[in-house]
Amino acid sequence: MDSQRLKASFAQVAEKGDAVALFFYSDLFVRNPHLRDMFPIGMSGQRDKLLRALGHIVSQVDDLSNLVPFLQQLGRDHRRFGIVAEHYPHVGASLLATLRHFSGTAWTDDIESDWNAAYGLVAKVMLEAADENALSSPAWWNGQVVAVERRRFDISVLRIQPDRPLPYTPGQSVALEVPSRLRHWRYYSMANAPRPDHTVDFHVRLVDGGPVSPVLVRGTQAGDRVRMGAPIGTLTLDESSPRDVLLVAGSTGLAPLKAILEQISRRAVPPRVHLFFGARSRDGLYDLEDLAKLADGFPWLTVVPAVSDEPGGHGFSSLLHSGDDGVEHGNLSDVVARRGPWDGHDAYVCGPSVMVGHTVEQLTRLGVPRDRIRLETFTDAQR
Ligand SMILES: Cc1cc2nc3c(=O)[nH]c(=O)nc-3n(C[C@H](O)[C@H](O)[C@H](O)COP(=O)(O)OP(=O)(O)OC[C@H]3O[C@@H](n4cnc5c(N)ncnc54)[C@H](O)[C@@H]3O)c2cc1C
Ligand code: HEM
Repeated sequence: MDSQRLKASFAQVAEKGDAVALFFYSDLFVRNPHLRDMFPIGMSGQRDKLLRALGHIVSQVDDLSNLVPFLQQLGRDHRRFGIVAEHYPHVGASLLATLRHFSGTAWTDDIESDWNAAYGLVAKVMLEAADENALSSPAWWNGQVVAVERRRFDISVLRIQPDRPLPYTPGQSVALEVPSRLRHWRYYSMANAPRPDHTVDFHVRLVDGGPVSPVLVRGTQAGDRVRMGAPIGTLTLDESSPRDVLLVAGSTGLAPLKAILEQISRRAVPPRVHLFFGARSRDGLYDLEDLAKLADGFPWLTVVPAVSDEPGGHGFSSLLHSGDDGVEHGNLSDVVARRGPWDGHDAYVCGPSVMVGHTVEQLTRLGVPRDRIRLETFTDAQR
């Protein structure tokens, strides 16, 4: 298999844009109508997931130490879609037909055998990981909503009771599916450390026009059913570290960090923890009441709320916000930076990608080594 030739071949096809994914799925469903039901009814906006993942795979084909764990995770993830070994050749055939179609005269027997070999290898790693995972873990967990708390017009906190314990580490997320949006799986982070009754909380913010979050935030009530995939994610506490902890949360990015905070609170001797919680406006700080209670109870915890789009600071505007005790003004990353130094801390950052990017930039500029910063962004999983 010639990795340079594969990369060049993929780059040439990828240039053709959306037409590639459209061709691929049309080919797949015309040849195998029975596979159509496995995919969401409306596929626009996420049509290119599989092909985008392939681009990622091809770009990493020389770096197996990164690629193999990625493929293993992908293989395990596919269990919740009901994908089994016999499905792989169908996808492989349509993939090859698509690549051949868009390569035109550049397509050769050598390229064809490169792609066959690469797809075979990818499928093998994914399937082996799925099979191994099936020995110890269900393909999904059924859950029942036991409580919904609307915190703001666009934010709800949902409590879900899984039908069997969901084994996860605080900071992780699961893909969730609601019955009225079948096959539209979306990731949400568990907002608590595991409890004796196994219930899990999710903090969901409505993304305008999205298929799933409006249903969760506005259309869900106690008694409703959901399905959850296996927990994923590496935004987890470095238990071996003796350092103090900095948690930086933008909006519902608070969820996984609150779970980590709960985990820390169960330690005999917790480290010092600073939690920065940011939103555009004050009422976006939807969990502040609870965080303030925690800070009152834990002398090792400091909570710093921050708002970016409301005037603050000096003069007249600050008088208008005289109830804002303790709320800092400014972009979350700047607020964090001015309350430093943080170079002796482990940092955990979660929220919208722009906020996470700026915060990581500021922290590294201030001397926090990159390998002491763990992060998660909440935009669509970019695989
Ligand atoms: C690992 C992970 C964990 C997540 N955890 C949470 C969580 O705990 N709470 C939560 O509210 N959301 C979380 N999300 C985002 C969540 O998965 C959904 O994308 C979001 O709820 C919107 O779902 P949707 O189906 O309505 O719209 P989607 O179809 O997912 O998105 C519609 C459009 O909005 C963009 N978008 C999606 N989410 C955001 C966002 N947060 N900010 C700005 N643009 C966005 C997408 O890129 C897309 O263009 C997480 C995402 C990931 C990848
Ligand atoms: C090289 C092999 C494959 C790759 C790289 C791949 C990649 C992906 C990716 C990245 C996703 C999104 C996952 C998520 O949102 O969590 C996905 C979803 C999915 N894949 Fe695959 N996949 C492969 C093989 C297959 C096969 C063989 C099938 C069988 C039909 C399949 C069917 C699906 C389905 C049904 C979904 C969910 C629908 C969706 O969200 O679009 N995939 N795949």
